[in-house]
Amino acid sequence: MGVDHLPVLVQEVVDGLDTEPGRRYIDATVGGGGHAYEVLASSSPDGLLLGLDRDPAALVVSRARLAGFGERFELVHSSFARLAEVAADRGYVPADGILFDLGLSSLQLADASRGFSFQVDGPLDMRFDRASSDSTAAELVNRLSAEELAEVLYRYGEERRSRRIARAIVEARPLHTTRELAEVIDKTVGRRGARLHSATLTFQALRIAVNQELVTLEKALPQAVDLLRPGGRLVVIAFHSLEDRIVKRFMRRESRDCICPPGLPVCVCQHEATLNALTRTPIRPSPEEVGTNPRSRSARLRIAERKA
Ligand SMILES: C[S@@+](CC[C@H](N)C(=O)[O-])C[C@H]1O[C@@H](n2cnc3c(N)ncnc32)[C@H](O)[C@@H]1O
Repeated sequence: MGVDHLPVLVQEVVDGLDTEPGRRYIDATVGGGGHAYEVLASSSPDGLLLGLDRDPAALVVSRARLAGFGERFELVHSSFARLAEVAADRGYVPADGILFDLGLSSLQLADASRGFSFQVDGPLDMRFDRASSDSTAAELVNRLSAEELAEVLYRYGEERRSRRIARAIVEARPLHTTRELAEVIDKTVGRRGARLHSATLTFQALRIAVNQELVTLEKALPQAVDLLRPGGRLVVIAFHSLEDRIVKRFMRRESRDCICPPGLPVCVCQHEATLNALTRTPIRPSPEEVGTNPRSRSARLRIAERKA
């Protein structure tokens, strides 16, 4: 493919996971194996890693990248929605650290046949797992009503021009390719000199809807906490504010003993804190990293530690 996926915030991830020999780590989004490689290297000679990915093509790449670590890693084709089950199956309970590096990889973005990018022409697919029965982006774009489409664009893209774009899509359909869709959006709301390409938020929104990314993340975070040993680390990298908000709220809530609404005279929730959030504000990449890896620009990393 000629494209490499450069992992972001590598040292910060290794420090955040507090890697040490003899420990067990889970990479819930192993992708091209960039972070996994560093986790294994920094936990040598006998740290172990279980890697999951929803995309079988990613596992082919990471398997090759990690081959030198021999028996120290296992890769499983699975969504992290099933994290607890996969970890139990493979003997990774309790785990010493769990990493989520959300979103998509440069390999997926650059592969025109995946339909993730408006910069290369391809079928409107956008499924991480092409063997799944999830609806493709083409199915959503051609089937949903203008109101439903506008709702998707607004909710998952925070696209302020969602209704105009949705109406234009409905008028122009059927749409089958990324270029066709990008052109409809550009004709409708394109503006020279704008900071983002006019199709950026629509593509983000469709990808999130196709893969049900936010619901899946909400399901996985509590499973990760349950899997960690006391003192074990949860490290999450988000690439847009919708994801980061979910992670921030989750870590904040799980760091509190009482989550009753304000104003109640006594606690009725009996919630007990399960985490210590170690990052009040997210860790961002340095200007040097953004210089060498522009994709890292929007990365936000948060770390929490499992309470005893
Ligand atoms: C940003 S990339 C990870 C890159 C990886 N950290 C590396 O260093 O190469 C995100 C990966 O998460 C995968 N992914 C997205 N949603 C997933 C899910 N629900 N379960 C498992 N993997 C998922 C994608 O297929 C993609 O390979």
